[in-house]
Amino acid sequence: MKQFILYARKAVTSPDFHLDDLPGSGGRMDLVARCICNALWISHDLRRDSCIHVVACGSPNPPVVISFYGDKLRDVSPDERNIAAWIKKALALKRKNPGINIRKLSFQQLIEQLAAEGKMFYILHEKGRDIACVKLKANPVFVLGDHIGLPKKEEKFVERFEHEKIALGTTSYLASQCITVLHYELDKKINHAPVGI
Ligand SMILES: C[S@@+](CC[C@H](N)C(=O)[O-])C[C@H]1O[C@@H](n2cnc3c(N)ncnc32)[C@H](O)[C@@H]1O
Repeated sequence: MKQFILYARKAVTSPDFHLDDLPGSGGRMDLVARCICNALWISHDLRRDSCIHVVACGSPNPPVVISFYGDKLRDVSPDERNIAAWIKKALALKRKNPGINIRKLSFQQLIEQLAAEGKMFYILHEKGRDIACVKLKANPVFVLGDHIGLPKKEEKFVERFEHEKIALGTTSYLASQCITVLHYELDKKINHAPVGI
């Protein structure tokens, strides 16, 4: 299982945001939805070996961890609006989707939980070690910041556990682009890469 953690400092924690204004009213929910799409979708299929945890730290009730699981998602399409609509439903505790889970959990609590499962963390950082030189362990957990980046305090917390800082080069990419590049690099490394139709 490949896991992605996105620290979304502005993503709102109430369902009262507008689908027509994801960047403003949603606290960059557009960015969140793009990351979810890139983490889980390929052409005409889902990546059933992947999940993404969004740590929403915006008002009014932070922090909330919204997790999407590729092997359990039902009836969600990969467009930003539809993904955001499902986040709205989940935050309203309305319609349940087996592939979407909401928890009242902080970034540090989530890291602790995954560390207790023996996971290795890969912090995505422009100044990290080039991914081409890194042999990734099985079941990696990739940690990414949002448009502003991962807060230093949270980065230091992850560093208490087994981790490595990795870079996709020196260009600063959007978090959603980093997820696509990571999948591409991992797909190349395995013989049975998922193939779209
Ligand atoms: C838009 S960037 C944030 C830029 C922010 N100014 C910073 O310095 O962190 C969003 C996230 O993508 C990841 N990222 C962007 N470019 C990267 C690169 N070349 N290598 C590794 N991670 C990268 C980092 O996790 C970063 O926090």
